[in-house]
Amino acid sequence: MIKDTKNPPIDRIDGRMKVTGGAKYFADFELPNMAYSVIVGSEIAKGKITSLDTKKAQSAPGVLGVFTHQNMPPIPGWDAPVGGEADGPTPKPKTEETYRILSSPKILFDGQPIAIVVADSFERATYAASLIKATYGKQAARTDLQKHVAESVSPEGADGGNYLRGKADAYQTAPVTLEANYSIPIEVHNPMELHGILAHWTGADTLMIYAKTQGVNATQNAMAQAFRIDPKNIHVHTEFMGGGFGMGLRTWPQETAVVAIARKIGRPLKLVMSRSQMFTLVGHRPYTVQTINLGANTDGKLIGIAHAATAETASYEDFTEATVNMTKFMYACPNVSTRYRLVRLDRSVPIWMRGPGEATGAFALESAMDEMAHKLNLDPIEFRLRNYTETDPEHNRPYSSKHLKEAYQKGAEAIGWNNRKLQPGSQREGEWLLGYGMSTGVFNAFRWEASARALLKADGTLTVQSAVTDIGPGTGTALTIIAHNVLGIPVDRIKVEYGDTSLPKAPTQGGSAIVSAVGSAVHDACTAIKQTLIELASKEGGPLSGRQADELLLTDGVLLVEKEPGKKVAVRELMQMNNLTVIDKTKDSKGSPELAAYSMYSFSVHFVQVRVNPLTGVVRVAKAVSVADSGRIVSPKTAASQMIGGVTGGIGMALTEEAVIDHRFGRFANNTLADYHVAVHADVPAIETIFIDKPDPVINPMGAKGMGEIALIGFAGAVANAVFNATGQRVRDLPITPDKVMQKLI
Ligand code: MOS
Repeated sequence: MIKDTKNPPIDRIDGRMKVTGGAKYFADFELPNMAYSVIVGSEIAKGKITSLDTKKAQSAPGVLGVFTHQNMPPIPGWDAPVGGEADGPTPKPKTEETYRILSSPKILFDGQPIAIVVADSFERATYAASLIKATYGKQAARTDLQKHVAESVSPEGADGGNYLRGKADAYQTAPVTLEANYSIPIEVHNPMELHGILAHWTGADTLMIYAKTQGVNATQNAMAQAFRIDPKNIHVHTEFMGGGFGMGLRTWPQETAVVAIARKIGRPLKLVMSRSQMFTLVGHRPYTVQTINLGANTDGKLIGIAHAATAETASYEDFTEATVNMTKFMYACPNVSTRYRLVRLDRSVPIWMRGPGEATGAFALESAMDEMAHKLNLDPIEFRLRNYTETDPEHNRPYSSKHLKEAYQKGAEAIGWNNRKLQPGSQREGEWLLGYGMSTGVFNAFRWEASARALLKADGTLTVQSAVTDIGPGTGTALTIIAHNVLGIPVDRIKVEYGDTSLPKAPTQGGSAIVSAVGSAVHDACTAIKQTLIELASKEGGPLSGRQADELLLTDGVLLVEKEPGKKVAVRELMQMNNLTVIDKTKDSKGSPELAAYSMYSFSVHFVQVRVNPLTGVVRVAKAVSVADSGRIVSPKTAASQMIGGVTGGIGMALTEEAVIDHRFGRFANNTLADYHVAVHADVPAIETIFIDKPDPVINPMGAKGMGEIALIGFAGAVANAVFNATGQRVRDLPITPDKVMQKLI
């Protein structure tokens, strides 16, 4: 374990750069002789291109090429399944259809690229793209999940979605039963930064890429596969990212196409997609319908749970996520069954989004728990406590740490849960109905493999390096603090370099896993430096000769003997004595096999107070308290910011976010930021964040479990539960818009 020094609540290390324009995002890079590409999308959702007139575009000013299925340069690795997506949990290849960008006149989804226009400026490429005329042989498109639920299939390897413990139908025999159906719409990540790539072939087989990716090593591998070249010859840079939320967890076909076209035209080529293209070409949270069955005794003990989820995917690829997983281990219950299915529609493929499937599943399970508590006439926290489990009932093993009871209690105090009335619709504030709701969230705490390098220089400064991209959660800040906690070097003398494949290999930024993975590697590299310093000082003839390592403390650039004030040596001096200009350590870090004896999860509890206007149906989140049991909090300020960000996303999921398809055409009706409503300042109250901040004794040397996803998982359920408490009306279909509340109140 590291010394339990107080984590300094430092500011975000890149905050100033981000707000002053110093941070360079992929689209900020300009290269000599660079060309610009613009995608032309299909106007139908299913069918075939019957004619494609590119003549006008080709002769428009500044145009360098128009690429369609008739002249797209080959992508050699695409003989392999599905475009060489990279490491991590990769979408599974599928059989019925194959999608290879610009490889055939077949149209599989609305907005599918039918041409990529390249010109010497973005404006000229955009103009030329507008001149392309296509005609289509149109077929009826199946885009409505609700209509096609009966056509669902069981995907292969669906994250263990089909599960049984005890008897599948035990809930039916319970004295108190509940069956409820929940649905969530398509949601789109909508980060501020537009998606795209800048590709530069620096030699015949060497490539420089500036991309919007959550994993530079993953993009490197994907391109190496696609172009059949050695990953070592591919350099990927993504130091900053203007929000990912999951869309950058894979390499998308249009990115690979841009790389291929850049090679063909012999110039660096940039693609910056439009906002509306980001609704179809970089994934979304899939439309999902769920049924929950609960059976309980009258004393509030659960007898059986069944959870079935059906989600949309594309015709050409199965995307699966862990929608039903929480149900398997969250509550003590002898009989649990889950089922997970997909419906293959004429739509573009989904991807993980913000707390991904777990957030979708938590909305259903935690709404149902609230409904059951109401049936049992129990306080929703009391109902959860009666079914609390200290060990993981799915795997029959202990949790590495679980302080959820404390989280319930702290959150309840902070929101003023005592003011909640068991009887719904019984509190008013002026013309508004007032209600309280809560929900639990949970997400895996991972310990992935990662590498990091630490360099201590003779001037007392430290540089820490890792390829990991900081997509916004404050990874660089957390790594700085971890290095500080090991070496005692002041944070302003520590520099973190990240987001580049020239640095030690790191996993993709996602799954709330990076402080655990890369943080451990930084911890180990810094520990190796510390050991070297201690050896140099304590060896025979050294300034602290004969001392044991555990007597020595490193702080503020000085190695000293604890309890003996006079005995010390400055790190700088020590390095000089030994003629060292730098101590340079690289460490690979992964969890020990003992981790397998534990279930590792981060937990959260969300509490909200809502006001509901009975005349207009408007729901306002008046107060939000989110409590995280995510182990030791390494960086208190950025952790709190991340929680606020997650809750903001949760408010959007609960109340405003929905990508609407006009099923007559299979097209989006609101694919702009004006019409797709992410939560804005006026929707977001002051959010109180509380951290249990108890180190996990197992997962990694920091005791930090990770906390990105749990900031959002469960939040929408807490809002739905609060709306019920305020009005007595249950909305099971997100988002909870005024029309749905009105219908219920009328
Ligand atoms: Mo996240 S959905 O792991 O980017």
